Amino acid sequence: MAGARVRRQQERAAGSAEMTDPTEAALVVENLSKTYRQRKKADITAVDNISFQVPRGQIFGLLGPNGAGKTTTVKMICGLIKPDSGRILVNGVDMLKQRRRGLSQVSAVLEGNRNIYWRLTARENLEFFAALKGQSGRQDLAERISELLAFFDLTDKEAEPARRLSRGMQQKLALAVCLVADTPIVVLDEPTLGLDVKASYEIRARLQEIAGDQKTIIITTHDMNVVEDICQEVVVIDKGRIVAADKTENLLNLFQARSYQIEIREGLTASQRDSLLELDFLELQQNKDKVILDLELQNASNLYRVIDILEENQTIIEAIRQEQLNFEKIFMELLENGRRR
Ligand SMILES: Nc1ncnc2c1ncn2[C@@H]1O[C@H](COP(=O)(O)OP(=O)(O)OP(=O)(O)O)[C@@H](O)[C@H]1O
Ligand SMILES: [Mg+2]
Repeated sequence: MAGARVRRQQERAAGSAEMTDPTEAALVVENLSKTYRQRKKADITAVDNISFQVPRGQIFGLLGPNGAGKTTTVKMICGLIKPDSGRILVNGVDMLKQRRRGLSQVSAVLEGNRNIYWRLTARENLEFFAALKGQSGRQDLAERISELLAFFDLTDKEAEPARRLSRGMQQKLALAVCLVADTPIVVLDEPTLGLDVKASYEIRARLQEIAGDQKTIIITTHDMNVVEDICQEVVVIDKGRIVAADKTENLLNLFQARSYQIEIREGLTASQRDSLLELDFLELQQNKDKVILDLELQNASNLYRVIDILEENQTIIEAIRQEQLNFEKIFMELLENGRRR
């Protein structure tokens, strides 16, 4: 239904690679591809020629359904797996040519927060990883660790082994461990996955504070709420390809203003029904004794076409409402359009 809009959106996405001067961006990903070669099984192209840039100090979302290629993308950004082709600049450093320097620019929490040790206490985890990241010489390390524990509300739990913390606390500890390295870029793979609403909100609030501190945060998620809530820009990927890239606000606005729902009482004639079904911007659903018309209006005059059809038989309109914005629907439309191309 929203084909034209989505196409315009996708055209803009395709052009976004030359968005800003690469030396200004915190992260530049250019024509990145990765195929997993498998013995006895078909190869899987997890990431298929994607390009995007992330400005400094942003929370940037990489949104996509299961298997879209999010984790593969962030593993390449963090230097954990090698792309087949493409270029990655982290804070201006070429990750493929200068891996060591590149690694010092990025820290990450990958899936399932495996970056913490179950047997070590919360504080010991921070000390251990600080040492690993060459931070043990810092005069203020103990203080910094205390600050991080306080920031994530873990001061009371600092002597508790990680395995005895709740899922939300473990996730917060994993974030603290990631931040102890004090890198300018932080990559988080599904930071709110499996958390309850309260823990998820808490983490989102902390992330906003961290980004306010001039760090750049890249998060992968399949949760539209997270994107809507905290990401300034988002790249939507599906099957390893970019299907949309824009400021979150633009993506939302693009779809918001035009979704209407008309509720009418049953009693459409066959000819009215036929006329309505011919309209490509309309979907008709029967809901008990009511008929609901969902409209995606590219231009306002289409609304009058619908009303004219209803008037033919003096059909009673019970309600006309602007549909509640639903990022999930936007997401589904983007995916559908991407797949049809
Ligand atoms: N090590 C691997 N070997 C072979 N195939 C892999 C490997 N890792 C990932 N894949 C495949 O690559 C594709 C992309 O996987 P990836 O984990 O990057 O997706 P994702 O977007 O992170 O998904 P999810 O939301 O489920 O975490 C999938 O088809 C997956 O099965
Ligand atoms: Mg993943």
